[in-house]
Amino acid sequence: MQLLKDKIKTEGIVLSNNVLKVDSFLNHQMDPVLMMEMGKEFARRFQDKKITKVLTIESSGIAPGLMAALELNVPLVFARKQKSLTLTDNLFVEKVHSFTKQVTNDVTVSRKFLTAEDHVLVIDDFLANGEAAFGLARICEQAGATVAGVGIVIEKSFQPGRSKLVEAGYRVESLARIASLDNGQAQFVE
Ligand code: G4P
Ligand code: NA
Ligand code: NA
Repeated sequence: MQLLKDKIKTEGIVLSNNVLKVDSFLNHQMDPVLMMEMGKEFARRFQDKKITKVLTIESSGIAPGLMAALELNVPLVFARKQKSLTLTDNLFVEKVHSFTKQVTNDVTVSRKFLTAEDHVLVIDDFLANGEAAFGLARICEQAGATVAGVGIVIEKSFQPGRSKLVEAGYRVESLARIASLDNGQAQFVE
């Protein structure tokens, strides 16, 4: 998606060979017009999939997830992240480990909001190792729901997340694919 790539080029800050900071339009301040265009693009790419629900994870997945849900005319559900839980009767729970942040969270969704009839579009802001996306897919599995696909705003294609998801049989659509962050520069795939 050219608009997003331009934004990454002009406002993204390469912090290291593997971390891109996009605080000015995605992770802290948000650009609503860009967000709306991203929602339209996700909806376009998954329009044939009979999506009934968008599923994301707090916090930075919520804005792009909501815009996709608005365009697809379905509800958005965001999974919650908590340190550790005791009362989980009404919840689907999966552990998700973040290599970037070196934490493991319990990721939860109320059983009320996902059913075996759902065709779910999983959305997230970044794809690195794929741990968050796999955690959300496992929650869908627990519910008996179908994962119709995974939509990502920024994919770091030099990290293993995408290939692991594709290998597991998921369709992955990323709006920007970054081949490398070497030498302080974001290089895109293709
Ligand atoms: P994974 O799910 O693909 O395995 O990714 P990982 O655990 O490494 O990511 C942990 C957190 O770091 C996620 O945010 C993810 O969006 C974010 N992240 C990963 N790589 C980058 C990057 O290059 N730049 C930025 N800005 N973020 C990155 P989170 O902990 O879920 O936080 P939140 O922002 O959603 O609250
Ligand atoms: Na994030
Ligand atoms: Na995220």
